Amino acid sequence: MLDWTDRHCRYFLRLISKHAVLYTEMVTTGAILHGNRERFLDFDPSEHPLALQLGGSEPDDLAQCAKLGEVWGYDEINLNVGCPSDRVQSGRFGACLMITPQLVADCIKAMRDSIDIDVTVKHRIGVDERDSYDELCEFIGTVAEAGCSTFIVHARKAWLQGLSPKENREIPPLSYETVHRLKQDHPQLEFIINGGITSLNQAKEQLQQLDGVMIGREAYHNPWILSDADRLIFGDTRFLLDRHQIVDSLIPYVEKELSQGTPINRITRHILGLFQGRPGARKWRRMISEESHKAGTDCQLIIQAAAQVIREPV
Ligand SMILES: Cc1cc2nc3c(=O)[nH]c(=O)nc-3n(C[C@H](O)[C@H](O)[C@H](O)COP(=O)(O)O)c2cc1C
Repeated sequence: MLDWTDRHCRYFLRLISKHAVLYTEMVTTGAILHGNRERFLDFDPSEHPLALQLGGSEPDDLAQCAKLGEVWGYDEINLNVGCPSDRVQSGRFGACLMITPQLVADCIKAMRDSIDIDVTVKHRIGVDERDSYDELCEFIGTVAEAGCSTFIVHARKAWLQGLSPKENREIPPLSYETVHRLKQDHPQLEFIINGGITSLNQAKEQLQQLDGVMIGREAYHNPWILSDADRLIFGDTRFLLDRHQIVDSLIPYVEKELSQGTPINRITRHILGLFQGRPGARKWRRMISEESHKAGTDCQLIIQAAAQVIREPV
């Protein structure tokens, strides 16, 4: 998620779940090919399993970026066909690509031909007037033929004009049934559902019919939702840390980043929701948000803020 799932955020989330696949922010092909590559692609080895999400619509550019992503060590390359922002539309990529399935297929084929890791697509169930189930199936069929077998479906359509990106995440109604139907009609393909999932119980229910669940906003605002994922979804009970232990494990990372000149608030902005629902959570949030931007702030702030929250019984 743009501006949210940067490498600091992902490092933090990975402390909470060892198995959930993490996705980068959307990175445009232009940024990678003509910008500061390291800035957009570098990540900490602990972040695996990790997918690089690309934004673009030029097959050759996407193939080059996918290759760089593979060389950098990403586990999956994902193409964004779901973002409806004006900026993205003017670059002719994101959700507007749903109107041109053959172009998406060409992009997928070019990427698949250049790399060995998985290439996946994240898309909507429709855009504008192109929102029938048949048109959606035509999109899936064309893209699958080019070699994509995993589709991450944001289960609502997008309006390309008239709604802001935020409204496009809230106003068009969710249709989980459409995604279930896609799976029934294309059992050989993998479908990962996205949109409005706010609990692991909901995720488990979806997994009875589908291959995966992607959680966006809830995982950012309430990252502790991921704490049970390893146990409940992936069947791994080895790493059970409480929230205070998560904070303890983050400290060496923050110290390393501070020594390299990263301002502390670039990291702390992502951890505000950690104690959501616990007594003292408001004090934690307030201390971190009020103090992080002050010059000379160091890890002591995080340690002192965590001490305001009552430790949960094990
Ligand atoms: C701040 C923000 C940035 C986002 N950036 C991206 C992005 O870069 N790529 C993408 O595929 N989706 C992006 N999304 C959409 C989410 O991935 C997700 O599809 C959407 O929020 C619905 O899922 P949710 O209800 O679990 O949040 C973004 C959402 C938010 C709130």
